[in-house]
Amino acid sequence: MCGIVGIINSNSLKNEAIDILKKLEYRGYDSAGISLFEKNRIKTIKSVGKISELEKKSKNLLDKNFTGIIGHTRWATHGIVNRNNAHPFSDENLTLVCNGIIENYMEIQKRYVDIPNNIQSDVEVSFYFLSYLLNKYKSPDEAIKTFLKIIKGNYAFVIYIKKNNSFYLLKNGSPISISHKDKSFYACSDSSILSFYHNRIYHLKDGDILKIDNDVVKRLNNNNKIIFEENSVSQNPYDKGKFQHYMLKEIYEQPKVLKETQQRYNSEFFLDFANKFQKLFDVNKLILVGCGTAYHACMIGEYYFNKFTNLDVSSELASELRYKNINTKQKTLYIFVSQSGETMDTLMALKYIKKYNKTSVIITNSLQSSMVREADVTIPTYALKEVGVASTKAFTCQVLSLANLSLEVAKMNKTISNSDYKKNLKILNTLPDKLKKLIKDFSPTAKYLAKKMSLVNSCYFLGRNISYPIALEGSLKLKEISYMHSEGFPGGEMKHGPIALIDKNTMTVCIAPNNELYEKSLSNAQEIIARNGKIIILSSAKRTKKGNTEMSVPSLPKENFIDTPFIYSIPLQLISYYFALNEGTDIDQPRNLAKSVTVE
Ligand code: M6R
Repeated sequence: MCGIVGIINSNSLKNEAIDILKKLEYRGYDSAGISLFEKNRIKTIKSVGKISELEKKSKNLLDKNFTGIIGHTRWATHGIVNRNNAHPFSDENLTLVCNGIIENYMEIQKRYVDIPNNIQSDVEVSFYFLSYLLNKYKSPDEAIKTFLKIIKGNYAFVIYIKKNNSFYLLKNGSPISISHKDKSFYACSDSSILSFYHNRIYHLKDGDILKIDNDVVKRLNNNNKIIFEENSVSQNPYDKGKFQHYMLKEIYEQPKVLKETQQRYNSEFFLDFANKFQKLFDVNKLILVGCGTAYHACMIGEYYFNKFTNLDVSSELASELRYKNINTKQKTLYIFVSQSGETMDTLMALKYIKKYNKTSVIITNSLQSSMVREADVTIPTYALKEVGVASTKAFTCQVLSLANLSLEVAKMNKTISNSDYKKNLKILNTLPDKLKKLIKDFSPTAKYLAKKMSLVNSCYFLGRNISYPIALEGSLKLKEISYMHSEGFPGGEMKHGPIALIDKNTMTVCIAPNNELYEKSLSNAQEIIARNGKIIILSSAKRTKKGNTEMSVPSLPKENFIDTPFIYSIPLQLISYYFALNEGTDIDQPRNLAKSVTVE
């Protein structure tokens, strides 16, 4: 995982690098470091913890005589969190940072270099290996080429070599882009950040070795021209405005970004759908693939396709799909869902099914991502950049995308009547206004329920049918930002085991839309009350009495099948947010997590 940056020729090297590292903190925040360099020296500063620690530590460091800087923010994979394992790895001749994993580092350690045994980091081994090659070869270019031939894994490196005063970028699997204006060059693992500085960007391709020498950038691995693309600067997603956290800001942004996404689908992507995509959907099987929250969006999509179309559809965790056999006889379309388009498990699953010549679609919020480059068709979501580690607006936009897709496929295959198609589309078109009111009306209730949750040690989420993935997502949201133990179950499964967990120290949130399954959900709630468990019922039904038990139900707007995931997920996001706020956790950057998981 991790985030990397490199800058050459800027008037404010250190401040710009720190600023970019802060924007990259979503990729990990275990430790951080920078190396400033000029042709006679390299100066490195590292610290444990967030970028603010590095900023404090480098406060008195003057950058005015340096020509460049590289920087790194780390999410630990190999080696514990400490200063030594922080990047950059450097000595007086060489400094480097890496995003990714060098898989054969142990073999390199055995075969090529004499390195102290206590080294834990794959990248530190790579640093020693490159130093060794730089001593062995006269030309640093040859050393770099040999280095690239031998190392295995998914990585992106930014390297400075003092011997020839040159700056190198290497890529295989992990993203890295470079932007420039005149003599100044910026490299970064997140291209969207570069658009705040320059509007001409080049995304490195796998196998690329770029060298910047005397203000000229060239490719070492072949003579293909480096074509910088125009990239427009978007609104600043790093401005929290009136909100205390990005997560809350992003929850509130949902009506706006869903509206934008729906309007663009109506007028662009889904317009004339059958003409554009008839062939793509000429399949017997549909498999939806994602990780974490994106996987929950896939599961919701599965319920949509199951309801509206006659396609055989299933969802797969990307991290598991790669270990399964692929049915080569079946005509299967794979739909990948990923906010970042960079999640390594999802990217690898996509590459895996491509080996079997399977067709793929990617639903993503990042149009410049690696998955977009791999998939056959891209369906964009327009959630704008999501900064909070806990996915909120990107998730609901993914669900909106799948809702539209299932309706269009159903219309094309004539498995939905024209009037039902129109009715459902109308629900999606009017959804943003409904959600705006919901967020406003439900916020006080969310604060109240969040307080009730502080009375328990564990929280369970129950749902049936399309509410089941909503329950899973509610549970994930709660545990990732508040660290409360939590699980989601299908309501019908409780009696098959999980009900043994219920006692007075547990809270169960029943997601109970006012539909044909409502009574069954209430029965679940009653079984929990009978075992002294605490209950919150989320429903659009007003007040509920079951037997002698009066149950308190915060009232939600009347839902339809297609908008149920939105109407119930957003209250769950708000409850988790306010509970975590009371707990005092680091909501936007919860412990042990990172926004974009670019390791397997
Ligand atoms: O960028 P992606 O959508 O591929 O990310 C997938 C998951 O890592 C992500 O949804 C994760 O579960 C979030 N922390 C959820 O809030």
